[in-house]
Amino acid sequence: MAVNKAIFPVAGLGTRFLPATKAQPKEMLPVVDKPLIQYAVEEAYAAGIREMIFVTGRHKRPIEDHFDMTFELEVALEKASKHELLDVVRSVKPDDMECIYVRQAQALGLGHAVLCAQRLVGNEPFAVLLADDLMVGKPPVLRQMVDQFDEWRVSLLAVQEVPAEQTSRYGIVAGTQVNENLMDVSRIVEKPAPADAPSRLGVAGRYILTPGVFHEIAAQARGVGGEIQLTDGIAGLLRREKVFAYRYDGKRYDCGSKEGFLQANVELALTHPHLGPGFREYLKTVAV
Ligand code: UTP
Repeated sequence: MAVNKAIFPVAGLGTRFLPATKAQPKEMLPVVDKPLIQYAVEEAYAAGIREMIFVTGRHKRPIEDHFDMTFELEVALEKASKHELLDVVRSVKPDDMECIYVRQAQALGLGHAVLCAQRLVGNEPFAVLLADDLMVGKPPVLRQMVDQFDEWRVSLLAVQEVPAEQTSRYGIVAGTQVNENLMDVSRIVEKPAPADAPSRLGVAGRYILTPGVFHEIAAQARGVGGEIQLTDGIAGLLRREKVFAYRYDGKRYDCGSKEGFLQANVELALTHPHLGPGFREYLKTVAV
């Protein structure tokens, strides 16, 4: 079965990015000229996915508005013959893409957010994308993962090597190597201290999961931080099914943190077709 649906959990509180996220979703923070959530949706679209499921919460209305039609704006741009801008606005939601919203009433954790989409996903494999992990890859990272899924038909976790002192920020996996890029996962631990980490392979915010994970999340007690953790659901899943970790080819920016967000803005501005050259010259004048 193909991966046709993607879940975007966007109901988190975004406390690491206060005060910017006090009254606006962190997923709407723009990197150069596009909100984070749009990068993630474009990545899913490029992977062939057309059904986008957003798990939202309070203060997340701007996300729904962003993917809605903006009639007055389109009429105004059309009248002014601003066709390029009109294309930009219309391309946010291609006609063959469907957006569905489900509410997570309380931010009880990422696992709980994914569980909120269970009825919309049904009994088929699906992708999960965390928009605050901005991924740059060629082909796009989720496209790479869908290709791997088509070949292996097992759940896949995007992983990268992380510095030893940062293991407590990630889900960390261990297992046996299948090939250069794939590992058959035997263990996954949420946010271990460096001394307890079974490896330095940290899970980034891209997953392809089989529907069996819903049952496993529902069976979990609250984990690290009192939250219902996706990692614990995956730990349950791998006792029943194979789960592979995939070392993606690309770069990840942790835009849930201020440092990662600034890095993404600088690096993506430098590669932007219109802004890049001028911005590079500008940076030379301020670089210390
Ligand atoms: P984070 O761990 O980044 O949490 O969640 P957060 O609340 O968004 O941000 P901080 O840590 O307070 O700064 C990872 C992803 O899971 C979603 C978030 O929106 C984010 O995309 N999430 C988290 C939910 O949708 N619901 C939750 O209950 C928790």
